[in-house]
Amino acid sequence: MNLRVFDTAADLFQAAAQEFAARAEIAARERGKFCVALSGGSTPRGLFNLLVSGAFPSVPWQKTFLFWGDERHVPPDSPDSNYRMTRETLLAKGLVPKSNVFRVPAENPDADAVARNYEATLRSFFRLGPGEFPRFDLTLNGMGADGHTASLFPGTSALNETKALVAAPWIEKFKSHRITLTFPVFNNAAYVLFLVAGREKAPALRSIYAGNEPGFPAGQIKPTNGESLWFVDREAAGGLKTSP
Ligand code: 6PG
Repeated sequence: MNLRVFDTAADLFQAAAQEFAARAEIAARERGKFCVALSGGSTPRGLFNLLVSGAFPSVPWQKTFLFWGDERHVPPDSPDSNYRMTRETLLAKGLVPKSNVFRVPAENPDADAVARNYEATLRSFFRLGPGEFPRFDLTLNGMGADGHTASLFPGTSALNETKALVAAPWIEKFKSHRITLTFPVFNNAAYVLFLVAGREKAPALRSIYAGNEPGFPAGQIKPTNGESLWFVDREAAGGLKTSP
């Protein structure tokens, strides 16, 4: 498990921004565009603000295409919306052309229709044939204390999805649907970067690091033809014995 521990969240965001910029430059140079699936929640805020702070002018924003790894089943102006968090941070400076932003249309009350709509968007953009999966140049992933990532939560139906690109599982603890990319999509990515911070995540991270992943969806993301990298802060690393 390729893991790096950082003393502070600021150090973690700096390293993550460098990785993001590096992947973006490589993809834009080699393929003419950089396709990234963004994570939600609170951790990415620090990274997104840093990326548009002016400290990373090399990011080819005109060739960057943004998607979401998951979205809450709320309208885009909801305080819970991952899109809204991104609009307030990564999109705040207008660096990414609006036509390069593919948000999940989660305002539709029919969650399954949202998933089908987003799947159609992915199939069209990536020009997929039957049975094909999109290959993101990068997916940004977070992890919850229960070991979920994106909206792949333990014990939910989406974990068993092997064909659909997008699922809309009911998440009992939130009494709500979520919209999420599925394991086959994440595991088809060229590069998956996990950003994990906070003490509450240490037990799940320790289990995943020890190779005990079955109960922790985040541990089941292992790109078949790509790399995964975990950037964690010292609190989340807890008592991990990591190689220097
Ligand atoms: C979401 C995320 C989710 C998140 C984890 C960690 O929609 O909430 O995509 O998977 O990454 O829950 O969240 P924090 O970054 O807020 O700890």
